[in-house]
Amino acid sequence: MKKQAPIGLFDSGVGGTTIWKEVVALMPNENTLFLADNKNAPYGGKTKDEIIALCERNTECLLNNDVKIIVLACNTGTTNAISYLREKYRHIPFIGIEPAIKPAALGSVTKKIGVLATQGTLTSELFQKNSNSLAQNNGIEFIERVGEGLVKLIESGKINSPEMTILLKKYLYPMVEEGIDYLVLGCTHYPYLLPQIKQLIPENIQVIDSGYAVARQTKNILSQNQLLNDATEKPKHRWLANGNIEILKEFAPDRNDLEISML
Ligand code: DGL
Repeated sequence: MKKQAPIGLFDSGVGGTTIWKEVVALMPNENTLFLADNKNAPYGGKTKDEIIALCERNTECLLNNDVKIIVLACNTGTTNAISYLREKYRHIPFIGIEPAIKPAALGSVTKKIGVLATQGTLTSELFQKNSNSLAQNNGIEFIERVGEGLVKLIESGKINSPEMTILLKKYLYPMVEEGIDYLVLGCTHYPYLLPQIKQLIPENIQVIDSGYAVARQTKNILSQNQLLNDATEKPKHRWLANGNIEILKEFAPDRNDLEISML
């Protein structure tokens, strides 16, 4: 495996770019390839089998582009499909993302933690197992809400819309009333909602996501496998979409080493 090969990342849509940004900030020397399967977004309400099939297709696409590692920049994909993918594609490391409920549980004083994520993530065996164990061993009460409709609005460019505010109030106010002191953003699209979320909830509630932890873990695994890029050429970045590239352009940083195109 070549060190110069790109880090591959995928998500159902533009949400994965929140992880891409963390990865590039932490490893500025790496080439990257991000795939947004936005023809099939959102994943959140799909069955486990459907999510596995889509993740498998995304994996094949990245492997055809010779990536050296795959970051599954999607909580719904990770919690439903990562064991299957690791089993099937043993020659390539996979890094997944899960809601950051463990750090929240360690920091929480009220022992009440809000989790906003997709239905697919919240009902997955992996999430259920991890949250039940924290509930039992650390006395945590999780107040879980499916962020129904949020990804669809983000994908259609309606991030700052009245509909968005209505949905966020509906999901967040009951958590605040329950006395949460942490809010876990369990979907890679949601960090883009941070400005609105912060306006709706009290300042003392910590809002956390797993983006930086995923980038750090990616770096650790590349380093352990001697796969960190040590070439001196300027790295290149590509974002691919199979449905709509306009939305990717809207969220893209202004940099001339990033190429955005249709798959
Ligand atoms: N961004 C994804 C996640 O982290 C998927 C959201 C969706 O497609 O519903 O779960």
